[in-house]
Amino acid sequence: MHDLNQIKAPVAALVDDFHSQFTSILATKSEWLKEAIEHLSASTGKQVRPILTALIAGLLRGDVPPQRSIDAAVLLELIHTATLIHDDVIDEAKTRRGRPTLGVLFDNRVAVLMGDFILSSALVGAIALSDLRIMGIVSAIGRELTEGEIRQFETAEGVILDEATYYDIIFQKTAVLFRSCAEVAAITVEASAADYDRAARIGAALGMAFQIRDDIFDYHRSDVGKPTGNDIREGKITLPLLHVLTELQKEGKAAPYLQLLEEKPIAEESIERLTTLAHEGGGMDYAWQRLYHYIDEAKTLLLSFPESVYRSSLIDLADYIAERTI
Ligand code: IPE
Ligand code: IPE
Ligand code: MG
Ligand code: MG
Repeated sequence: MHDLNQIKAPVAALVDDFHSQFTSILATKSEWLKEAIEHLSASTGKQVRPILTALIAGLLRGDVPPQRSIDAAVLLELIHTATLIHDDVIDEAKTRRGRPTLGVLFDNRVAVLMGDFILSSALVGAIALSDLRIMGIVSAIGRELTEGEIRQFETAEGVILDEATYYDIIFQKTAVLFRSCAEVAAITVEASAADYDRAARIGAALGMAFQIRDDIFDYHRSDVGKPTGNDIREGKITLPLLHVLTELQKEGKAAPYLQLLEEKPIAEESIERLTTLAHEGGGMDYAWQRLYHYIDEAKTLLLSFPESVYRSSLIDLADYIAERTI
């Protein structure tokens, strides 16, 4: 099992210095916001995106990443944080990172505003970097993410089964941010156009794998610091179940299961049946197979770069994304 602390070792000093920047960008006159920011700072999450940004910058530069790469990584992690706050409102999640969500601590209306404050702070931070390309990338993320979340809603509402649409949605809601980490890293080290492109493809592939892994979590009753079983409860048909239902549909046998997904709310018993179906119908195996396809794609691209501590860590990061248990 790959350990994230070991993976981030070549850039640890930089990534660990992160907090002070985070709080200074989020300086506020509001008491509630202060409380919320303290709450968020006390449970930072895995920080996979800043680690990815710093490692890609190191890979492309062939040396320690400059401070500028870290400054940009802070912005991307702020966007991620804002997204999680909004996502938990949408998904009605009561826990995140093993702790209550802002919607529980304050209420959902306040949580939405807090997410907006953090997102806008990231955009202000991007302007401070005085780079039009970075500004463009950072601003585009919010659009992709929200469009992805809305499309997920649409497909859940209409019980739409389409694997290509699934990939398209997870690309928008998760992989675009990972790709942006790699792109911004490339810009901050003034990489060549060809390196920029390769790095972007690595980021995107890792992001796709990351979201498939996350979707797989939802079919297990393990403690990942946030609710599981929630996707089906919300009518979200992610890859494991999607695959089995699509196969059943080809044989004209999907109707009774699709009916369960039409219930509002979906009964606990139905969630159980659908989860079992995903396991027993080969849905988990299929999702793992697709996940490893993206991991392999990222690794192949990584191996086209010269060997370095950054490259080794990135290869380990790819394995970690597949193996992670949280
Ligand atoms: C959760 O992201 C949202 C997804 C894209 C699946 P992370 O699993 O990176 O969340 P934290 O930051 O570590 O809590
Ligand atoms: C990923 O979606 C979150 C975003 C990219 C907005 P999920 O709804 O699956 O994320 P978790 O599982 O709540 O972290
Ligand atoms: Mg969610
Ligand atoms: Mg999830």
